[in-house]
Order: sequence, then structure tokens, then C-alpha cells
Amino acid sequence: MFHKLSLLVIIVALIFTGTVDAQIKNSKHDLSFSSTATVRTTTSGYEEVCVFCHTPHSKQSTSLLWNRTASTATYAVYSSPTMEATVPQPGGVSKNCLSCHDGTVTYASIVNNPGSGAGIVPAFSGTGKMDTTTAAVPAGLGTNLTNDHPIGFVYSTHRATDTGLRTETTSGSKISVQATSPARTLPLYGTTAGTASLECGSCHNPHGVSGVSMFLRVSNANSEMCLTCHIK
Ligand code: HEC
Ligand code: HEC
Ligand code: HEC
Ligand code: HEC
Repeated sequence: MFHKLSLLVIIVALIFTGTVDAQIKNSKHDLSFSSTATVRTTTSGYEEVCVFCHTPHSKQSTSLLWNRTASTATYAVYSSPTMEATVPQPGGVSKNCLSCHDGTVTYASIVNNPGSGAGIVPAFSGTGKMDTTTAAVPAGLGTNLTNDHPIGFVYSTHRATDTGLRTETTSGSKISVQATSPARTLPLYGTTAGTASLECGSCHNPHGVSGVSMFLRVSNANSEMCLTCHIK
């Protein structure tokens, strides 16, 4: 009986560590004090990982229990002569990423810090923001998104006029682009095909995926991720 119980405890523990935490801990998105990442807080004892992006309470945005101050930047967006439609300002879910990656908001701009009241505000070295000027830090996208893959537009409207794009799949209120051999699914953001947009999270999973680099949702070996949407 005891053995069965302890086995169960181990299995449950494995299931939990095997999900979000296992991949995010010590990844570049682990900004806690004990993280092995280069960018992390210098405040000893500040060990929460999720807090840099989510809070269980006092959420400030309508979704994801988002815990960061939004960027107020206006972005230069992608355009090209061959694009079927114009690209708007990034959508809310992409702005979540840009609240660190455009380099205008400090890492410490957390709405609800650990502890009661104002809580403990984590310190960071340097400017405390993402570096967007040094070539060696490509993660700092800045506010010029003209040289980045277009985001923030409704996938189906672009797809309708471009035969080189795979038709999206609607499953209840979840819209995605799916391909086979190997099977892969990339999410679009919105509850109907007519409103679902392509955002940073269509290609990236900020928690990391086991065995896949760059926080990509699926491996891009042989450009498989690109070929989920583009039929080339
Ligand atoms: C660097 C920012 C960041 C950190 C740190 C982070 N998340 Fe997230 N999380 C996000 C973003 C962005 C999304 C939305 C993902 C999407 O667009 O699909 C999200 C979505 C989620 C979701 C809902 C969708 C899903 O993937 O299941 C859960 C649950 C979640 N996070 C839990 C956690 C937990 C638990 C931690 C800490 C161990 C954590 N996150 C740390 C950025 C972060
Ligand atoms: C709390 C701040 C924060 C948020 C929010 C955040 N990131 Fe990051 N991200 C970082 C930091 C810090 C790095 C590492 C930068 C460095 O090493 O100089 C990083 C690195 C990355 C990298 C490079 C990974 C690698 O292995 O080189 C990718 C890709 C990335 N982030 C994507 C995203 C996406 C997509 C989102 C939203 C879904 C997001 N990030 C949200 C802080 C953030
Ligand atoms: C269409 C898919 C796609 C979208 C949308 C996308 N990315 Fe990426 N991103 C990638 C791929 C693929 C890589 C890896 C490139 C490589 O390996 O050289 C990457 C790399 C990165 C890196 C690492 C930069 C580097 O060169 O080391 C960061 C940071 C990043 N993305 C953040 C973002 C953010 C923030 C957004 C939204 C504003 C976003 N990405 C939207 C596909 C995408
Ligand atoms: C989630 C679906 C999706 C993924 C994944 C994706 N794309 Fe795209 N991509 C699109 C859509 C939709 C457009 C807009 C097409 C249009 O309106 O002409 C686009 C536009 C582009 C354009 C600009 C075309 C132009 O006319 O200026 C290029 C280049 C491109 N993608 C390359 C890539 C590459 C390389 C990858 C992999 C790193 C990738 N895409 C991954 C959906 C995707």
C-alpha cells in the first residue's frame, strides 16, 4: 500500500515538473534570482518564475492573468509589394511579448509583485530593459517590426487571396493551422476564423517546448514550421 502511494506521488510529481516548469526553469524566460539565464534579477530571494508574466490575482489585462505593464509604443509594421493586405499594429497577445522585447518597458514593471501590498520590486543590472541596440542581443526587437515576420493580421483574409497558404482549421472556438507528416498545429488568436489573427504565439511558446530551441512551438527542421502555413 505504501509503495503504491509513494509511486503515485512520484508520478504526480513527474507530471507536474514535466509540464510548464520543466522547460521554463533556467530558460531565457526564467528571470528569477537562481536562474542560470544571463538576464535575471539581482534581488536575492526573488525566486518566482511565473510572476514576471502572470499573477494569480490583481490581473491587469482581460486575459492570461497578465502581470506586466503594457508598452505604449507605436510600431513600424511590416509591409511589402507582394503582401496581400496591410498589417495593423500588433494585437494584444503579441503586445504581451513586446512588453519586454521592444525594449521600452523594464523587466521589473510587474503589476502584482510577490508579497502583500506593493510587494518586493525586483532589481536588474544595467538599464533593466531589453537591449535593442547591441547586435549580439538579437532578442531585442525594438519598435521597428518591418524586418520581422508580419503579425497582428487576420489569417483567413490573407489566405483567401493567397493560394500559397494552408486553410485554417476550426474546432469549436479554437482556430489553428495544421499540417501532417510530421503532425503539427499552430494556433491563431480569435474565436472564429474570420477574426483569428497570427501573433508571436502562433510560432512561439513562451514556456518552451522540450527538444525545440528558440521557444518555437514546433521544430523548424527542414523549415517544417514555416511549411505548416506556407505551401511552397
Ligand atoms: C516570459 C513570460 C512568461 C512566463 C515567465 C510564463 N508565462 Fe505563461 N504564458 C505567457 C504567454 C505570453 C502566454 C500566452 C501564450 C499564447 O499566446 O498562447 C502564456 C500562457 C499561459 C497559460 C495558458 C495557456 C497555456 O499555455 O496553457 C498558462 C496556464 C501559463 N501560461 C502558465 C504559466 C506558469 C505556471 C508559469 C510559471 C512556471 C508561466 N506561465 C510563466 C508568458 C509567460
Ligand atoms: C518578462 C520579459 C519577457 C517577456 C514577457 C517575453 N520575453 Fe522573450 N525573452 C526575454 C529575455 C530576458 C530573453 C533573453 C534575452 C537575452 O538573452 O539577452 C528572451 C529571449 C527570447 C527568445 C530567444 C530564445 C533563445 O533561445 O535565444 C525568444 C524566441 C523569445 N524570447 C520569444 C518571446 C515571445 C514570443 C514572447 C511572448 C509570447 C516573449 N518572448 C515574452 C524576456 C521576455
Ligand atoms: C511566423 C513565425 C514567427 C512569428 C510570427 C514570430 N517569430 Fe520569432 N522567431 C521565429 C523563428 C523561426 C525564429 C528562429 C530564428 C532562427 O533560428 O534564426 C524566431 C526567433 C525569435 C527571437 C530570437 C532572435 C534571434 O535571432 O536570436 C526572438 C526574440 C523572437 N523570435 C521573438 C518574437 C516576437 C516577440 C514575436 C512577435 C512580435 C515573434 N518572434 C514572432 C518565428 C516567428
Ligand atoms: C502561422 C502561419 C505562418 C507561419 C508558421 C509562417 N508564416 Fe509566413 N506568412 C503567413 C501569412 C498569413 C503571411 C501573409 C501573406 C500575405 O498576406 O501575402 C505571411 C507572410 C510571409 C512573408 C512575406 C510575404 C510577402 O509577400 O511579403 C514571408 C517572406 C514569410 N511569411 C516567410 C515565412 C517563413 C520563412 C516562415 C518560417 C520561419 C513563416 N513565414 C512562417 C503565415 C505564416
